[in-house]
Amino acid sequence: MGISEIAERYHDRGWVVLAEGIDQQTLAELRDSVTRISALEREEVVHETGGEVVRALHGCHRFDDVCARLVRHPRLVDLAEALIGDQVYVYQFKVNLKNPRVGQQWPWHQDFAFWSIEDGMPAPDAVNIAINLDEVHEGNGPLTVLTGSHALGVVGQSGSAASGDWRQHVSADLAHSVPADLAAELATKHQPEQLVGPAGAVAAFHPNIVHSSSDNLSADRRTVLFITYNSIKNVPSRVSRPEFLVDRDTTPVTKLAQ
Ligand code: SIN
Ligand code: MN
Repeated sequence: MGISEIAERYHDRGWVVLAEGIDQQTLAELRDSVTRISALEREEVVHETGGEVVRALHGCHRFDDVCARLVRHPRLVDLAEALIGDQVYVYQFKVNLKNPRVGQQWPWHQDFAFWSIEDGMPAPDAVNIAINLDEVHEGNGPLTVLTGSHALGVVGQSGSAASGDWRQHVSADLAHSVPADLAAELATKHQPEQLVGPAGAVAAFHPNIVHSSSDNLSADRRTVLFITYNSIKNVPSRVSRPEFLVDRDTTPVTKLAQ
């Protein structure tokens, strides 16, 4: 699949899985970084509600060399620039771990609802790149997207005013969600697709696509790394959330030499 076919699929369906994932060495380095960062006591390390289990690591590209290099990976930058049609910077970076049996859900939502309501991002001219750091299968809480729902724009939200509490943007109790009955109705017209695949697989999905993922009831960890690239012409207007959630450095990403 060439870049134009990838872009066509992305714009048509709101998501696309690349034929080729990241290389094994980068994958191993990223997994080591996740282990190292998870053990740190810092605000970027978020725990599951009411417990000590690590749920997510935020803004790692700002302090970890492996993650800093990843966001400059030529294939990822080329992909983001092609899908957005402009130069890009890193708006958000996170790793969602979903530990075995205790990793909690992400209710139905659209990312652009958060970015516009909380940060004043002008338009959905951004893209999420998801990289599996573990195998993702039907049982460990894969991301489920409603195909084509990105074309609807922002649909009915529970929570349409800024919440001001960033913890409600990263927990299983989300500030801006798509009510379950609306998601069920949308799913009759917009085919739900689970983004399952081996460790190393790379997918892209649109800021307006309706998506969710369930609790991880299996014995297998489900770690997925997400980079959100934003157009340099689409900088949010009123950012108050922590820098590890919304990067203030809007300098265009430069690609590493290959
Ligand atoms: C997200 O919606 O931002 C993450 C969902 C997931 O990790 O399954
Ligand atoms: Mn999301």
